[in-house]
Amino acid sequence: MIEAKLDIVENQNKKPKPEGDDLPFGQVFTDHMFTMEYTREKGWFQPQIVPYEPITLDPAAMIFHYGQSVFEGLKAYLNSEGDIQLFRPEENLKRMNRSNGRMSIPPISEELVINYLKQLLLLEKEWIPNEEGRSLYIRPFVIATEANLAVAPSQSYKFMIILSPVGSYYPEGIHPVSIQVEEHFTRAVRGGTGTAKTGGNYCGGYKAQEKAADRGHAQVMWLDGVHKKYIEEVGSMNVFFKINGQIITPELNDSILEGVTRKSIIELLKHWNIDVIERKISMEELLQAYEDGQLEEAFGAGTAAVVSPIGELSWQDETMIINGRQTGDLTKFLYNTITGIQTGKLPDTFNWTETV
Ligand code: COI
Repeated sequence: MIEAKLDIVENQNKKPKPEGDDLPFGQVFTDHMFTMEYTREKGWFQPQIVPYEPITLDPAAMIFHYGQSVFEGLKAYLNSEGDIQLFRPEENLKRMNRSNGRMSIPPISEELVINYLKQLLLLEKEWIPNEEGRSLYIRPFVIATEANLAVAPSQSYKFMIILSPVGSYYPEGIHPVSIQVEEHFTRAVRGGTGTAKTGGNYCGGYKAQEKAADRGHAQVMWLDGVHKKYIEEVGSMNVFFKINGQIITPELNDSILEGVTRKSIIELLKHWNIDVIERKISMEELLQAYEDGQLEEAFGAGTAAVVSPIGELSWQDETMIINGRQTGDLTKFLYNTITGIQTGKLPDTFNWTETV
């Protein structure tokens, strides 16, 4: 049982807000954070908002050894009335509980977390940027805290929410990036943890990312771990292709993370009566479409970048130049629509936003 009563300890040493054009992703944090504890005996307890500061953990805490943890990412915006807007927060919290389930972490009440998050945001409202392309990135996460080297689920956890004002995820902004298809390393395998938002899925990709960067690419495209044939994700995002007027995105399986942006794009395309299909798509098929002049656009979709056009895609000895390395019209339209709804500049006909 979670205790609903939230304690708030105000920070008396507020930091200056970031100024100027440079706001790199995830490097500046606000004055407060939310924390809550879990033990087998008490369940989730002690919800509190406290000054943002380092935390102390036992060196034997299980997070350090076996990586039992999950995280989420969502954003808050200020609309033209000056109110705080969240984009489909319940989707992120539902996914957090799905990740918790996969990583043997106890579930957390989504409703209560949304409430606590809203209180944290109200306290940190001045940190929410209202310049174009900026937002307040929200990072909820859970870590295993029991001091125990046994290979078994922890008996205690800490749930936290930290906030970071951010600019665009890629320094390039919404400009087409160059992608390398990874042939050796695998992000996730059938029956593995790919559908959970858990740290190991991300750091397991660094090696491939380094390889791609050495060859001048911004990100990697991940293939399925079984056949090394079907496209799964790009960087830390879901991926979409426009082929001969039809939009194709890899169908969800048990190694692809179900993105909230992915889901929103599919719903928007269906609403616009644009042909969108979720199915397996292989690199051979993609190359064939390219050679036939039918690969019109390609883009990644995720919370951090929203939509990220792919300008160049390298696979084996082939390099595909997509849409003359320009952002495609549909990609741009999706970016403008989603960010427009998120910031309240466009009407929210889907009821996706929640005002705090
Ligand atoms: C996203 O954009 O959805 C991500 O997962 C990126 C994040 C890990 C920084």
